[in-house]
Amino acid sequence: MDREIAKLIENYIDEIKKAGMLETKPVERAFRKVERHRLLEWVYLPEEEGGLEYTGTKLTKKKFGPQDPELLKIIYSDQALLTRLDPPSSTSQPTLVANMLELLALEQGMNVLEIGAGTGYNAALMQEIVGKTGSITTIDIQEDVVEQTERLLKAAGYDKIEVLAKDGARGHPENAPYDRIIATVGCSDLSFRWAEQLADEGFMLIPLQHGGEGMDPLTKIWREDDKLSGRFVGVSGFMSIRGEMEVEQRTGFAKQRSLCSKEPTAEYPLFRSLEELNELRKKRCDWDKFSSLSLFMAIVDERACWYSLYGEKGGVAIKFKEDRIALYGEESLYQDLKSLCKHWEEMGKPGLSDWQLEFFPRNRAREIPEGEMAWTIERKFSTEIAVLKSRHASRDRKIDPVQ
Ligand SMILES: C[S@@+](CC[C@H](N)C(=O)[O-])C[C@H]1O[C@@H](n2cnc3c(N)ncnc32)[C@H](O)[C@@H]1O
Repeated sequence: MDREIAKLIENYIDEIKKAGMLETKPVERAFRKVERHRLLEWVYLPEEEGGLEYTGTKLTKKKFGPQDPELLKIIYSDQALLTRLDPPSSTSQPTLVANMLELLALEQGMNVLEIGAGTGYNAALMQEIVGKTGSITTIDIQEDVVEQTERLLKAAGYDKIEVLAKDGARGHPENAPYDRIIATVGCSDLSFRWAEQLADEGFMLIPLQHGGEGMDPLTKIWREDDKLSGRFVGVSGFMSIRGEMEVEQRTGFAKQRSLCSKEPTAEYPLFRSLEELNELRKKRCDWDKFSSLSLFMAIVDERACWYSLYGEKGGVAIKFKEDRIALYGEESLYQDLKSLCKHWEEMGKPGLSDWQLEFFPRNRAREIPEGEMAWTIERKFSTEIAVLKSRHASRDRKIDPVQ
C-alpha cells in the first residue's frame, strides 16, 4: 500500500474511533486493509454552483484520478459519498459502516448476505473479517453498479466476493443458509425470504424504516419458535430500497424539504425534555438516546417522521439547531406534538432498548391483549408489533395508539 494512503487511513481510523464506532480488532484491521478509493471511479460532491441535485443539495460529479490529494482526503473522511443520483447509490458514512460491522459480530468462516452492494466497500470489509474460509454474497438492483463494483473489487483483490444484479428482496437461496444478513439500504419492510435463508443461530441487521424515509433504526431480527423477533440496536438514515419492497413515501425527504422551506405560521420554544435532547446533539454524543423520542413518536403516531409531525395540510417540526418548534398549519398539530412528548416523559422516556419487536406475515399478527403496551405497524408484507418493555411503563399508564 502507498505510504500516503496508509497515513490517510490511519487518520481516518482515528476519526471513526473518536466517534466511538470502532471497538474490536478484526473490524479495525479490516478498515486498515481495504482501500476505499480503489472502489471508486467518481463521486458527487456538494458545491454551491453544482449543476445536479439530490435531496435539495447541489452537486458536481468529480472523476477520480489517483493523483488527486484533495479528493483522497475527502474519501478518507467520515462522509457518505454519492456515486449515482437517479436512481441513487453511494458508499455509506464510514462511522455507520463501522457501527454496523461491530453490531454484526462477524467471525472467521461465516457466510454473509448483503442487500445493497453499492461500491462493494462494506462487502470487502466483511470479506476481510470472515477471512478466506468465509463467504460474502452481495446484491444490488442496479446492473451498472454491479458491473463496476465487480470489476473494481476484482482489481483490488476481492474476487471471491459474489456480486449479483437483482432485487435483493428475494435474497439468494443458492448460497444459503447465511449466518448474517445485512441490508445497507433503508428498508420499508423485511422480506420473509431473508428469514428462510437465515441459519438457525443467525440474525439479520436491517435499517428498518419507522416513520418514513431516512429514519431507519438499525434492527436486529432473528427467528424464534414460529415467529421473528427483533430489537433496536442503533440508528441510521439510508436511501430507500427499490424494487418489490418500494413503497410510496408518506414522509419522504421531498415532503420534509418542501414543508420546512416555507415560512412558519407560528414558532414556540423547545420543551424542557427537548432541551435535554438538544444538549446531547450539541455534544455529538449518545445518538441512540437523542433518537429515543423520535422513535417513540414514529411508533405511536403514523404522522411522525424524525422530529416532525405531518398533517393533511401542514406539519410541525422540532428544529433543534434553531432552538425552536416551527408550526406550518393548524395549531392542533403543535398540541399533538406536545402531548406525544408528555406521554414519552410519563412512560419514563423509553429508549431504543426498551422496545421488543415481533414480525408476522401481514394480517396474521397475534392479538394484543388489553393492557399490553404494544403498537401495531402495518407494512407491505409484514405486520410489526412493537412492545414497550420499559421498567417505568405500567399497565395503568396505557396510552391510546394514535394511529
Ligand atoms: C447506500 S448504498 C449501499 C452502500 C454499500 N453497501 C457500500 O458499501 O458501498 C444502497 C444501495 O442499495 C441498492 N438497492 C436499492 N434497492 C435495492 C434492492 N431492492 N435490492 C438490492 N439493492 C438495492 C442501491 O442501488 C444502492 O446501490
